[in-house]
Amino acid sequence: MAKKSQPLNPFFLSSSIPDAFFCDRKEETESLLRLVLNGNNVLLMSPRRMGKSGLIHHMFNRPEIKKGYNTFFIDIYETSSLEEFIQKLGQEIVGKLSRKGLGPLSAFLKSLSGLRGVFSMDPSTGLPAFSVGIGEILHPETTLDEIFAYLERSDKPCIVAIDEFQKIADYEQRNVEAILRSRIQLLHNTSFIFSGSERSILAQMFGSASRPFYQSTASMSLGPIPCQAYSEFASRMFKSYGKQLDESAVTDLYNLVQGYTYYLQRALNESFSLLPAGQICDRSFLFDRIDEILTANSDSYKDLLSALTPNQRALLSAVAVEGRAMNITSSEFAKRHGLGAISSIQTAARSLLKRQLLTKDPQKRYYLDDKFLELWLIRPAGISLDLRLEQNHQSTI
Ligand SMILES: Nc1ncnc2c1ncn2[C@@H]1O[C@H](COP(=O)(O)OP(=O)(O)OP(=O)(O)O)[C@@H](O)[C@H]1O
Ligand SMILES: [Mg+2]
Repeated sequence: MAKKSQPLNPFFLSSSIPDAFFCDRKEETESLLRLVLNGNNVLLMSPRRMGKSGLIHHMFNRPEIKKGYNTFFIDIYETSSLEEFIQKLGQEIVGKLSRKGLGPLSAFLKSLSGLRGVFSMDPSTGLPAFSVGIGEILHPETTLDEIFAYLERSDKPCIVAIDEFQKIADYEQRNVEAILRSRIQLLHNTSFIFSGSERSILAQMFGSASRPFYQSTASMSLGPIPCQAYSEFASRMFKSYGKQLDESAVTDLYNLVQGYTYYLQRALNESFSLLPAGQICDRSFLFDRIDEILTANSDSYKDLLSALTPNQRALLSAVAVEGRAMNITSSEFAKRHGLGAISSIQTAARSLLKRQLLTKDPQKRYYLDDKFLELWLIRPAGISLDLRLEQNHQSTI
């Protein structure tokens, strides 16, 4: 039974997780904290769904940050221009300032000379809202200067986390990197955390001498939470609600989804909520729940596949079947999976990488970051979850 103050389910599926339900990441939190407290800008990279956003929120929750800093977090995945970037940043600042009341909020809005007269009232709070349309940001660079100038004048130093930062490389306007970098390097009271999952794009942005952000940050990579730490955490969570979990089942789950944090949490969230009283959550219970999740996701996976070309679909399935696929443009690979011409595999691979459906490691092996999609795609090949676990064991020996 959950205690009164406990949430119904201790396995959170959002990236903002209360400390008591946040697993491990002690060293990573300390490293990020130390870098930020020392005034560094930081590049934080990890594969998708590993826990970047969660780590940033967790670090923002630390007492020394809460007390000493103003923190802002924007996710720019959905943006496609500098104007939209400014919209996101403006909305986040206004959202934070709204909690401090009208005075600070009006001061911020008044400082944006280029946007005067375009703010409306938010009827729910009675406070001004940052309801600025893209077309109303007529002088984006001036507005950006004014926003940064405001942060610089702020009562406390500011930390701005920009999630999915690689997105600015996709903006049609080519000089946004240069626009941001030239301003950011002049700030003294404001530091930045740039995070993202597209390692190859970020490596180019921050590691190539011709790019504006070249070597401008400290950099951190986030890997999976160690299996032992995650199993202990999961058992502790079950125990604290009076439920039982077989710890070796968590190890199996971990190996099945290769330690990707989201899929661990998703499987345990579901298993936790459906576990009958008095029963132990073991491997077969856990794997049955994953099978149910995959079936429930079928329609959205089918939609996703129907947006791909036949060559892309075939390649995605072939890579899923192999787990980590080497030499995908060899004739052996093509033959093994009944794929077409090598050139069409290359074209398909390029667009699957771009859509983030496939990822390529430094050894040029291809794989899916979306572990549930992978497990669903291997079903028609007759690969059950138990068999995939076995294969994962073999490939790590
Ligand atoms: N330390 C943690 N303890 C428990 N759950 C976590 C932890 N970190 C992440 N998670 C879980 O993993 C999920 C994914 O984490 P998060 O959104 O932080 O990843 P991300 O790397 O930012 O992913 P994306 O690349 O998709 O933005 C979260 O929704 C949460 O369920
Ligand atoms: Mg994220």
